Order: sequence, then C-alpha cells, then structure tokens
Amino acid sequence: MGKLGNYLLILFVSGFLYTETNTFSKWVLELGDNFANLHNDGGYWLIKFYTPWCGNCKRVEPIWGHVVQALKNTHIRIGRIDCSSYPNVAKMFGVTKYPTIKIIRGEEHHTFQGDQDTEQIVNFALRMSGPAVEHITRPESLTNIKNMNQLFFMYVGEREGALWDTFNDVANKMQAHAFYYSTSQSIAEKHIFLNETPAVFVHKENSHYFYTVEAGNGLEEARHLNASIHKWINEERFETFLKISEGNIEEVLQTKKYIVLVVVEENKLQEIPKDMLEFRNMVESVIRKDRDKYHSSFQFGWTSSLELVINIAMERISLPYLIVLNSTTYHHHVPEDDPLIMTTEAIELFLERVYNQQAPAYGGNDFAVRLYRAYFNAKTTLADRYRGNPVLTTVLLGLPTCFLSIIMYFCVCQNCLDANEEDEVPLHEKRE
Ligand SMILES: *[C@@H]1O[C@H](CO)[C@@H](O)[C@H](O)[C@H]1NC(C)=O
Ligand SMILES: *[C@@H]1O[C@H](CO)[C@@H](O)[C@H](O)[C@H]1NC(C)=O
Repeated sequence: MGKLGNYLLILFVSGFLYTETNTFSKWVLELGDNFANLHNDGGYWLIKFYTPWCGNCKRVEPIWGHVVQALKNTHIRIGRIDCSSYPNVAKMFGVTKYPTIKIIRGEEHHTFQGDQDTEQIVNFALRMSGPAVEHITRPESLTNIKNMNQLFFMYVGEREGALWDTFNDVANKMQAHAFYYSTSQSIAEKHIFLNETPAVFVHKENSHYFYTVEAGNGLEEARHLNASIHKWINEERFETFLKISEGNIEEVLQTKKYIVLVVVEENKLQEIPKDMLEFRNMVESVIRKDRDKYHSSFQFGWTSSLELVINIAMERISLPYLIVLNSTTYHHHVPEDDPLIMTTEAIELFLERVYNQQAPAYGGNDFAVRLYRAYFNAKTTLADRYRGNPVLTTVLLGLPTCFLSIIMYFCVCQNCLDANEEDEVPLHEKRE
C-alpha cells in the first residue's frame, strides 16, 4: 500500500515536472554529453549553458523562452546544457560563467556578449548564422531592413577592390557586434543620395552617415584603410543615445570614447519619474543637436543601474546624476552643479572642460583606487543589507561578534585568573 502510494506520488510529480519543462521542449533540446558529437552536424546551434542553481540563469529563463519563440521558424536549432551534470561539454566550449549563450557550428563558436534581452540575443543568433556581409539584391529587402529599426552597416558598389576587401574583412571580425550588408548602386540610390561608389555608410535611427575615406599613402594604403575602417565601425556601432547596463558597458568602453552617462530611476514597468526624464531628454538633445561636434569623442547613454554607477563613482549618489567616464584611464568626471538645475549650455561647457582635461578627474584604475573600490563595495553592500533587513544583518554580524567576544572573554579571563594568582603571591608577600 505504502509502495503504491510512493509510486503514485512519483508518477504525479514526474507528470507535473514533465508538463512544467515541456512548454518549450518542442524547440529546445535538453542536451548533454551527446552534444560533443552533435555540434559537428553542419548546422547552427544556439546553446544556453546553465546550472540549475544560478540566480542569473533563472532570471534569463523567461527571456530565453521568448528567444526560442522568435527563432522557432529559422534554421537555428536551440538547446540548453545543464553544466552541473555535464561539466565536460562546458569545458569543451570554454564556458566559465553561467549563463553563457553561444552560437555553435562545428568547431566555430561565438559567445553572446551584451545585455541579456530578447531582441539582442535574437539579433546575435541571426547575425552569426548568416554570412558576415549579406548581399541585398531587391529594393524591397532594403526597405524591410530599414523598417527593422536596427543599426546596420552597408557597402554600396561592386564587390571588389580595396574598400570591399577591407569592409568584408572587418565584417568577418566584428560580425558579433552589428549587421553588415552590401548592395548595388542602383538599389541603394532608390533610398539614399550617393556622391560616389564604392561607399560605406551606417544606418541608425532613421539616418545614415557615410564613412569618408581618409587619404592614405602608397604602400601603406591597405593598412591605413584597414585601421581607419576598423576605427570608424567601432565608433559607429552603437546608437546615438544608448541604454547602458552591466551587460554592455564593457563593449561600450571598447569605443575608447568618453562615456557620458545619465543616471535615472526606473521602475519595473520601465517608467521614469518626470523630472529625471526631462533631464535625460535634455542631455540627449545635446548629442542630437550637435552630433558632428561630440560624436567622435563622446558616446552618450543612460542607465538605471545604480550598482554600475556606484561602482564607478564610489560614493552615494542622488538621482538624476551625470557622470563622464574616460574609457582608457577609467577616470570619471562629475559636474559641480546639481544636475537638476543644469541647462544645455552648462552641460556643453562641462563636456568641453572634460575634453580639454580641465575638469577634475576622480577614480581611475590604479591599485589604490581598486583597493578603495573593493572596500567601498563591501561597505555599501553591508549598508544596503542593513537598510533592507536590519534584524537579519545585526544577527548575522552580531552572532559571530558575540561568539568572538565570549571566546576572547574566556581567553583573557584565563589570563586574568592566572595573572591574579601570580599577582596574589607577591601581594601576600608584600603584606607579610
Ligand atoms: C586590421 O586592423 C585591425 C585593428 O586595427 C587589426 O586587428 C587587424 O589585424 C588588421 N588586419 C590587417 C589585415 O592588417
Ligand atoms: C582619458 O585620459 C587620458 C589621459 O589623461 C587622455 O589622454 C585621453 O584623451 C582621455 N580620453 C579618453 C576618451 O580616453
């Protein structure tokens, strides 16, 4: 009877688990050691490496569900691997943190880097599963691509010559970061005005900006072109006013520009208080109004991640906040005025002072600062924890302190007792 009961319970539980995990299983394969052979089948695999206990993996779970939905009609197959059960597969693909999302085809694999949001992961998978430069042969295709509202790079002209070779080469190297297309002059001219071909431009936020070839010299020409296109693509590959988070800050720092960061409060529904929104819009207007002036040296963006900013600023901050980060030295600059009373002119002046290295610089990345940062983070975490749950923090901190005191009391007292005994002897002697 008991056995039957257990059996029924197991049936019930496994039935429940089955329906629980089965929502996506039509498209998501639960893979294991078998993937060591499977990945060589010639197709593209989007794989999530996870462990059942990691918090970030749980957070990505609903996003992953949407990614699976979005990609279900493509040739990309989707799977996940529980790395706690199959550590060898994780090792094989060099996975060290969880979750890691990779696109894999044969021996080639690329890790998704960036914000873990559905659109970015889907775009990454689509990019990496096609040719580095996709050739557009119909005018409607270009319309469709423009309507996707995605940043992309476009080469116009015959697919030959130094500019094409370099563009193609850079696209292959930086495929993970952006979409690259090529098309003929006649198709491109239906959409934009061209001065000359071949030409390269970037399309973002309904505008396009051409790459202008800088004059190189003779033998050095090819090397020069390569370096200059690399640099240009690196400078252009982010939106004009970008949302920055822990996920993409490393990437953004690669631009080697000053990062102008507006920090605002944002709730779970992505709502921002009115005064902060106004401040954010004002800073955005600075770059929108005068892109030519700021674009090559400043990357503008905003964030609602306090953790990210406190980690840089190393002080308690009040919102909204404006901070400029030097991406080579990691020094940061903050305006002297309260952001809420700043005007566009004041912001422009501040940026000019930063650019001319007249604004005071804080932080950096040398040893003393890193040490202070570690100390500051520990302190902040503790303070936050206390604010979140004073009783628990006190108990957590208090208990060891308590035990330590008791232990110390006994040690010291042992000494007191000993000392007293020893002391007593001379005392008695003196008395006598
Ligand atoms: C092109 O430039 C990039 C970055 O400046 C460099 O990493 C790469 O090796 C160069 N390629 C060639 C073929 O010179
Ligand atoms: C950062 O600081 C260094 C040293 O002061 C300076 O040379 C560089 O131009 C600054 N800006 C950026 C964007 O790196």
